Amino acid sequence: MKIFLDTADINEIRVAARWGVLDGVTTNPTLYAKVGGAPYDDVLREICGITSGPVSAEVIADDLEGMLREGRHFATLAPNIVVKVPMSETGLEAISRLADEGIRTNCTLVFSANQGLLAAKAGASLISPFVGRLDDINQDGMIVIRELAEMFAIHDIEAQVLAASIRHPQHVTQAALAGAHIATIPFKVLQQMVHHPLTDRGIAQFKADWEKVQGELAARRGS
Ligand code: G3P
Repeated sequence: MKIFLDTADINEIRVAARWGVLDGVTTNPTLYAKVGGAPYDDVLREICGITSGPVSAEVIADDLEGMLREGRHFATLAPNIVVKVPMSETGLEAISRLADEGIRTNCTLVFSANQGLLAAKAGASLISPFVGRLDDINQDGMIVIRELAEMFAIHDIEAQVLAASIRHPQHVTQAALAGAHIATIPFKVLQQMVHHPLTDRGIAQFKADWEKVQGELAARRGS
């Protein structure tokens, strides 16, 4: 399963890239609003300079011409831009038109397998079911991931299932086991995945034991 970072924070993206675990990035208006400071285009260009993986840029317009205009514009920013389009009747049409023009899309705000199936048929490359937001309303978000992954495998559908709205490390494990092709993860969750109390304690213990022996050797040399 590929790992994308769900953020518009350049520093977080740089760190994940240095760790060698970054396969792409997803942004949305909320994530961009959290960092602000620079025009969205500039942020996107900078992200695309850090990773050669897909970088999702979300359209704001809710009319077809607006979605197409924004999508075409994003696609000029870098070759790895993927245009994020919300699931809707207009969104499907925009996905289909952009696909005809060779522009890759990520259908976002997917909450059912049928929505995902339609987005894939319209030509979206990435389908983003929001796991955490389904969990929030007492539905098992992971079911949509599993259903879509199975559906795409059974019918040999090329679109990839991108588990979004990931809230904790267990979501990542579950998404991988449910067959998600990609999980997009907040940086905090990525950090949580790195750490385990026994690992951290083990590292401290190894260091302490090493230093103890070095101290003893130094004392012996000095005596
Ligand atoms: O990738 C979508 C994500 O940013 C939404 O996450 O936690 O706001 O549901 P959340």
